[in-house]
Amino acid sequence: MIPKHIAIIMDGNGRWASVRNKARAVGHQAGVDNISRVVEIMIKKEIKFLTLFAFSTENWSRPIREVEFLTEQLLAKSISLNTERLHSAGVKIIHLGNKDNLNGKLKSKINDSIKLTKNNKKITLLVAFDYGGRQEIVRATKKLLSSGISLEEINEKSFSKFLFTGQVPDPDLVIRTAGEFRISNFLLWQTAYSEFYSTETFWPDFNENEIDKALLVYSKRKRKFGNV
Ligand code: IPE
Ligand code: IPE
Ligand code: MG
Repeated sequence: MIPKHIAIIMDGNGRWASVRNKARAVGHQAGVDNISRVVEIMIKKEIKFLTLFAFSTENWSRPIREVEFLTEQLLAKSISLNTERLHSAGVKIIHLGNKDNLNGKLKSKINDSIKLTKNNKKITLLVAFDYGGRQEIVRATKKLLSSGISLEEINEKSFSKFLFTGQVPDPDLVIRTAGEFRISNFLLWQTAYSEFYSTETFWPDFNENEIDKALLVYSKRKRKFGNV
């Protein structure tokens, strides 16, 4: 079985640069360059939803220069460079996370790319930027309460509609690059029954061969959802 939704924790940009004696920014640039390549491969594999963890709510605690590089320069540049290409490849872009901490120009760039691609059907690309799973759950709770919903109507299904992922199915497979085995506040609600796969490969080197390996491992897993 091919997963319908793959979510990736794109980790290891810093280490990719460090083993090459390069600055961390060089690794982040290489990481961003890899995104459109991976999206194209996922389209070829007929994956319908791809979520990429690009910047967490905790990543604001990094040195200011690195944060500025990631949130201002790199994000702005990659939207400008990639939106048209993704649009013509049939990619629908969704953002998961806050936009409040980003500058106005960047916010409107993100909104424009979402609007431009909203009717595309080939694959949905969910970009988690300034995203944190706990924060998402708190935000959803506030939205739920202010929606005027009655106590009886609150259940897992109605609650999940208030998450950033709204109508998107839960990830079938979570991939983490760079050898770590932790969730780092990513999609806490949505990954309740996702299969987890970790590879030593750093994100900038994550390629088709790596994707094939992950898909092969996934195809051998037996998903039980609590059943026997
Ligand atoms: C992932 O690479 C990108 C972000 C978290 C923004 P890292 O920057 O975490 O790379 P390592 O973990 O230091 O190698
Ligand atoms: C997780 O990577 C966040 C992203 C990939 C955007 P981190 O590198 O921030 O995670 P920790 O700090 O190692 O858990
Ligand atoms: Mg990291």
